[in-house]
Amino acid sequence: LVFFAIIVLSACDGDDEFANYTITDRPFPPHFTFGVATAAYQIEGAWDTDGKGEQVWDTFIHEKPDRVSDRTTGDVASDSYHRYKDDVRCMKEVGVDYYRFSIAWSRILPNGTVDNINTEGVNYYLNVFKELEANGIESMVTLYHWDIPTDLEKQGGWLNPKVVDWFTDYARLCYTLFGKYVKVWVTINEPKQICHSGYGTGGYAPGVVSPGVGEYVCARHVLLAHAKAWRVFDKEFRSALGSRNTIVIDSDWYEPATNKEEDVVAAEIKRQFVFGMYAHPVFKGDWPDQMIENVGEISRRQGFNQSRLPAFSEEEIALVNGTYDFLALNHYTTYMVTAVKGEEYPKVVSWDTDSKARSYQKDEWQTAAIGWFRIVPWGFGKLLRWLKKTYGDIEIVITENGVSDTTGTLRDQHRINYMKSYMSHLLDAMYDGGVRVTGYTAWSIIDNFEWTQGNNAKLGMYYVNMSDPLRPRIAKDSSKYYSHIISSRCLLD
Ligand code: NOJ
Repeated sequence: LVFFAIIVLSACDGDDEFANYTITDRPFPPHFTFGVATAAYQIEGAWDTDGKGEQVWDTFIHEKPDRVSDRTTGDVASDSYHRYKDDVRCMKEVGVDYYRFSIAWSRILPNGTVDNINTEGVNYYLNVFKELEANGIESMVTLYHWDIPTDLEKQGGWLNPKVVDWFTDYARLCYTLFGKYVKVWVTINEPKQICHSGYGTGGYAPGVVSPGVGEYVCARHVLLAHAKAWRVFDKEFRSALGSRNTIVIDSDWYEPATNKEEDVVAAEIKRQFVFGMYAHPVFKGDWPDQMIENVGEISRRQGFNQSRLPAFSEEEIALVNGTYDFLALNHYTTYMVTAVKGEEYPKVVSWDTDSKARSYQKDEWQTAAIGWFRIVPWGFGKLLRWLKKTYGDIEIVITENGVSDTTGTLRDQHRINYMKSYMSHLLDAMYDGGVRVTGYTAWSIIDNFEWTQGNNAKLGMYYVNMSDPLRPRIAKDSSKYYSHIISSRCLLD
């Protein structure tokens, strides 16, 4: 072992184009894997090609083009429906172990239900899987990355309890059709964005405005849908396929603004409303206590005789609890938190005000193209240590991390710096904090359609000119840097 460690350590002393960086002596352990991520609507395009049904983002943007800051759409996006082989070539060039991508529900089930399967859509994904396999790249597949079929949304979407079975049937079909190609399944990506932005503020598709009410109903259904789909996998597919399955939860880090007890408590409650809302039911059972208390108290003050937070029954708590194989985390940025006095509430009701904690970012923190997105690498390390403290010695995979810019410049030194600094805090958390992280996924391999930021925010390691009909992929410097990390297993400082 010592001998092996010496070999790995000495591998950090490379003398190549990155040699001008100081070398860190902390290699990524041998079992650690590296990937890149995308999502269907952000890359595929072909929004109505070969029998694909309409999904909420198609509808949301077509209805009102100014919902996207540059008035672009995902109709063509990076055109990966026709150019997936180019994507795989980029991944091969970087040398990733796996590719995390999502299946568009309405591409294989145009109306959302399993009575109408679109064979051409199924074939598209089979081709992607085969191309990845031929190139020795494993698949991590997200079943739901925000694109519920519009026909299901017309019936209430994530607010209709039937969504639990609609999603479970869709998941079972995917396990059946694609199971032999998939190493890791992810049921649902970033539930907070689906529910808060989709059914709270209405800023994201389907644009339902129901803060503090609809967003909690959505959260409950998302958790039940995840749990049922996970249980089907566990019971009917796991042993035959030998794959793993979990939910991806996003979390920023929330740091108390001062050492005062009230701010420290407020920051912890904020974390519970952000991460705990989805993680507590899955990793511990039921909503976090702080959520139940706060939403109940504020609901009573609003004059309701019951909480706006819909309760889970005992059976539902048991159904959801334990439905994971590891903890999957998307992380990008950090906020400071101060406590808000109870009597100031509620002015506007939402998960955010229910937390009774105000959050903000510091002006001096370096900013990226997306307003919320300030670059705060130490927050990543703190979050990882907090996860270990809160959820125990659990295996963690980073399923997204990355940084945006507006130009898509090929000389993306800022992205290299971002990766370097965030990964260095990751390694510290692993080496000094004993946090068990086993994988890192960069968002993203190629520039793609960034939701309501359209083509204004570019996060790829390969540039894609969205005005060029051929959508060529051109390597940025960061792709070479990431490639170097993967081959050397070392972070160059
Ligand atoms: C998280 C989302 O899962 C992904 O779709 C998005 O592009 C990135 N964050 C960057 O904002």
